[in-house]
Amino acid sequence: MRPISTWIARGARTLLATCLPTADTVRGPFYRRGAPWRTRLCPIDEPGEPLSISGTIIVLPDCRPVMDAVVDVWQTNTRGLYSNLFGLARRSNARAFNLRGRLRSDDAGRYQFDSIVPGRYPLFWPLTRPRHIHVMVTHPECERLITQIYFEGDKYNRWDPWWLTSTTIRLEHDREVASGRTTSTGYFDIALRFRRFRK
Ligand SMILES: [Fe+2]
Repeated sequence: MRPISTWIARGARTLLATCLPTADTVRGPFYRRGAPWRTRLCPIDEPGEPLSISGTIIVLPDCRPVMDAVVDVWQTNTRGLYSNLFGLARRSNARAFNLRGRLRSDDAGRYQFDSIVPGRYPLFWPLTRPRHIHVMVTHPECERLITQIYFEGDKYNRWDPWWLTSTTIRLEHDREVASGRTTSTGYFDIALRFRRFRK
């Protein structure tokens, strides 16, 4: 059972998403084109805390759910490293796209993926990038969106040049009694802008 504060926070975010497009930020240097189509971004035994992210994609101004949007995700491992850091790995190398993946939203605009909680990495002295997940969303009728999902409570958030409260989510932590393993769950709804003319 989720605490009422979680529902209130999610409701507030949804309300915000119905009024404002999700913030568009930088793509950064670690995006790699051609990630595999999958909803699990890493092997089941990937070190780190298991994480499930889900949400609904809508398009403004009428807030229709967006079906078949492509969600391209990339993030670091628990040590703060991206796979294929320098872009030199062959695509046939399975590790070249670890913690990267593409998926599509369903008929109701919903998407979901499984991963691990990402690690932090140094930006330039003295800054450290807080935990975050990069997301690029594309659809023929919508403006392309590139954003980053941040996590509440990360002490490095406030020093990050791209951090926004509007793209920061609260994680719920569920501890499985049998295995003693904790799984984190987060919700991130996305509002796109309608693109009137194809470019
Ligand atoms: Fe990053």
